[in-house]
Amino acid sequence: MASKKWTQKDLPDLSGRTVVVTGASSGIGLVSARELCAHGARVILAVRDVEKGRDVAQDFVGDSEVRELNLADLESIRAFAAGWSGDLDVLINNAGIMMAPAFRTIDDVELHMGTNHLGPFALTNLLLPFITDRVVTVSSILHRRGRIHLDDLHFDSRPYKAMTAYQDSKLANLLFTLELQRRLSEQGSAVRAVAAHPGIARTNLVAHVGGVNGLVNSLSQRLCNDAVKGALPTLYAATQDIPGGSYVGPDGIGHLRGYPVIHKTSKRAMDTDMARRLWAVSAELTNTGE
Ligand SMILES: NC(=O)c1ccc[n+]([C@@H]2O[C@H](COP(=O)([O-])OP(=O)(O)OC[C@H]3O[C@@H](n4cnc5c(N)ncnc54)[C@H](OP(=O)(O)O)[C@@H]3O)[C@@H](O)[C@H]2O)c1
Repeated sequence: MASKKWTQKDLPDLSGRTVVVTGASSGIGLVSARELCAHGARVILAVRDVEKGRDVAQDFVGDSEVRELNLADLESIRAFAAGWSGDLDVLINNAGIMMAPAFRTIDDVELHMGTNHLGPFALTNLLLPFITDRVVTVSSILHRRGRIHLDDLHFDSRPYKAMTAYQDSKLANLLFTLELQRRLSEQGSAVRAVAAHPGIARTNLVAHVGGVNGLVNSLSQRLCNDAVKGALPTLYAATQDIPGGSYVGPDGIGHLRGYPVIHKTSKRAMDTDMARRLWAVSAELTNTGE
């Protein structure tokens, strides 16, 4: 689909709409929340560090609120959802971590899979009764290298590799979107599940990554989008009239930078059988989504 170089300036008036942005304390989430707020939406910054969230939100123009949400902790997710009332137009599953050392969350799941997939999975399912328009989940071009090992989601049998853990979790984001959309359609729901990816953008995502990986990451980030441009696919996916199941990313070479367009998802991300099986395992691990 052709882009007319859509930017945040093309956002419609969002007055009367309520949006939750996870991980709005930094990077793409911060920019997305700020721009949606500036265009009239009531924005809830769902953040793990409330003080950091408040620091960020004080510079926003418009109606915003900061609430605590730790996606690596199911109890925190349940508390956030339990505190919700009223319509939620758009949920943006943006928060994520990349290339963290091997670690198990308090719920005993691998940290990337927990934070990037299982947390958003549980949050979405718990908030779904309130969602009126859409769920946007932020994936990555690196999902193409991901593989879902349903029998070893947490690296019990495989040697732990931080990049592999990230890639797998980002593939899980797209399989989740595909299966969520299938379920919504089956129920005759008008709610859409869509996905976005920022290309490569300068944010804090790789701030802690050292060594050769750190150098490569920091160089590639310098050559690509800033956080404002990196947020465009998310903003487009959250506000434009696109079909459920769409995957929005930058239009430039290699989809690393540029302006938002709808892309085809990879073959692995279109594996409906795997999407169903991942959903079942995720539902069991989070006790949500059944
Ligand atoms: N930047 C890129 O090049 C790139 C490329 C592909 C995909 N992405 C995706 O874009 C999304 C946003 O990343 P970013 O680049 O903006 O990175 P970022 O600047 O590091 O922002 C990540 C956000 O997620 C939050 N977060 C991390 N763990 C959390 C948890 N357990 N609970 C709640 N929030 C948590 C962080 O909170 P704190 O502020 O407290 O740290 C931060 O607000 C991620 O899903 C990432 O995978 C980014």
